[in-house]
Amino acid sequence: MNENYSKLELLKNKLLNELDCPLKDNSTNLVFGKGNPNAQIMFIGEAPGEKEDLSGVPFVGRAGKELDKLLSKINLSIDEVYIANILKYRPPKNRDPKPDEIIKHTPYLIEQIKIIKPKVISTLGNYSTKFILSNFNYNEMKKVEGIQNLHGIKHNMNINGIETIIVPLYHPAAMLYRPKLREDAEEDFKTIAKIIGKTFENQKKLL
Ligand code: URA
Repeated sequence: MNENYSKLELLKNKLLNELDCPLKDNSTNLVFGKGNPNAQIMFIGEAPGEKEDLSGVPFVGRAGKELDKLLSKINLSIDEVYIANILKYRPPKNRDPKPDEIIKHTPYLIEQIKIIKPKVISTLGNYSTKFILSNFNYNEMKKVEGIQNLHGIKHNMNINGIETIIVPLYHPAAMLYRPKLREDAEEDFKTIAKIIGKTFENQKKLL
């Protein structure tokens, strides 16, 4: 069995045994992550929604389908990426995460990043972008600019010794309601494609 796969399984079991968070009591399943444990690119969303809670798998609802479409534009399949959320349990009625929930979950997200060591991390949406660019510090999030200014812009970051490039993207759920954002997201995906050496749609080589 692949080493990173085993490490992620151990981490998942650790979380199941140790995480003491009220969200656990109100949700159906843990939503830990999906995809390739050796991926060059990791996507990080905010928290599971209803479909994710019921299935135990991140980004399986409408937003997930939107993300799948974008991935296929750079010829990436789920087998080549890893997808996770900041929170691993669904907040009731999809409300924003609370500070203590974030603080309790963050060590597990950082461990996931340390195991996978992705070349690129794409933060999905405003919340995830602000949290990660504030260096996982909830109290500093407000100081980070919004996704409308940051999407598609590369930021080099060292996360607990892991050198990576953050590329924020609009949240796929936002694209469902504002198709203009999909055009922006396609442009932003070209930036990601370049970093990981993929071609963008129709095998066109990027400059
Ligand atoms: N939105 C998220 O941020 N994460 C999911 O897993 C689903 C929807």
